[in-house]
Amino acid sequence: MEENQVSPPSSIRLLIAAEIARTISYLHSGLNSAGIEICGVARRPSTLFEELERTHPDVILINEHFGNVDLLATIDETASIVPEAKVIILSTNPSTSTISQTSRPSISAVIDATTSVEEIVSLIQHVCGRTVEAPQEEEEPIQPVAPRRSKKKEGKAEVFMVFSGKGGVGKSLIATNLAAALSEQSQARVGLIDLDLQFGDIGLLVGIASHPHHIDALAQQPELDAEYIDDTLANGPAALKVLLSPTSPELADLVMTSDIRTIIHEMAKMFDYIVIDGSSHLEERLLEAIELSDALIIVTSHNVTSIKNTKITLRLLQSLGVPQDKILLVLNQTAQKVQFNKDAIESSLRYQAVANLPYDPKTVDDSIDNGSPFVLVSQKAEITKSFKALTDYFLSDDVAPEEGKESASSSKRRRFAFGK
Ligand SMILES: Nc1ncnc2c1ncn2[C@@H]1O[C@H](COP(=O)(O)OP(=O)(O)OP(=O)(O)O)[C@@H](O)[C@H]1O
Ligand SMILES: [Mg+2]
Repeated sequence: MEENQVSPPSSIRLLIAAEIARTISYLHSGLNSAGIEICGVARRPSTLFEELERTHPDVILINEHFGNVDLLATIDETASIVPEAKVIILSTNPSTSTISQTSRPSISAVIDATTSVEEIVSLIQHVCGRTVEAPQEEEEPIQPVAPRRSKKKEGKAEVFMVFSGKGGVGKSLIATNLAAALSEQSQARVGLIDLDLQFGDIGLLVGIASHPHHIDALAQQPELDAEYIDDTLANGPAALKVLLSPTSPELADLVMTSDIRTIIHEMAKMFDYIVIDGSSHLEERLLEAIELSDALIIVTSHNVTSIKNTKITLRLLQSLGVPQDKILLVLNQTAQKVQFNKDAIESSLRYQAVANLPYDPKTVDDSIDNGSPFVLVSQKAEITKSFKALTDYFLSDDVAPEEGKESASSSKRRRFAFGK
């Protein structure tokens, strides 16, 4: 959320302090529609006080075991920053909890973490002493494709993450083709990370039949260094280096959030670009990767459930403080019949798409069956042409045009908004 953004006076401003991505996304889906504005999210104690200073919430919803810190000391510090704010604690077992409503004056309630969103809404309204009407949905302007600003720094890769709130929309296909196209078109060093830790299939998509080392092997190392990571990477097409997901879903649990942080930091020193394929299951390790990424490619297909989940995803990213210009929307037509066209999707999501990939089962299926990204083997296919525009966007170093001036870069950028 922008720092100077002013919320409507009637809304109740809520700060969520929870490490668990599930809690955040679950609450997020229900609170916004009840006139309760999630003004900030602190995923770890180190960011809580900064968020309090920034947002000045009316209510703070905090997990009892937030960051394993001394909760009462945290609440005392909170009260010194925002004395008027009411605190509601989400407890795994309120009856046996050592913290109660009387522990501190600012604690308004200690409730069960499984309490329904509806009950949490009424409790928040009760502790604030006011009922809030759901705000009239104001028609926001459609967010244009952000001018390209390369985040590349000497000795550090630019990190792109492909993500969606819905499965089967083409994330892995887009991640592999983006990595291959970046590598081929720019001759840069490109690393591809499969962060679909349970059911990753990047290995298949880039034709790596078997490889002895996967990401779970890295996670078991007491100290991760660049040399060890290098030994773990598999060789893919177009000189890609690939970090594969575990061979079996249960091994995904071996990979911790801190491992993801170290792996991305270390790989960023070894490559010019890193492309990460995410799962559609929003969890802690994925949020970590989202935080460490320079650009998020949100994929949506043309059907109503995909658009609905993308809308929720975009709102959630906004609550998490992800800047809008870090987000790129890519439309991918995964079925012959479309329920909504490009304009309708952009209008519904209030985002302009950077690319609109056509339905092309022959090119896509051949590419998957042969483990060869279509950008490398089907140069003439319509989907490859559409796709290269996405790569061009990343490889250009366009800067924002001066206000009111039509620049070469702005006319160039128009190439990326594809009409259908
Ligand atoms: N543009 C397209 N044209 C035709 N078929 C497509 C297209 N994009 C994706 N598909 C089909 O959709 C399937 C799913 O793609 P992919 O595995 O990349 O999705 P995903 O979002 O990574 O899925 P998951 O959430 O399961 O990881 C592909 O196997 C392919 O058959
Ligand atoms: Mg996938």
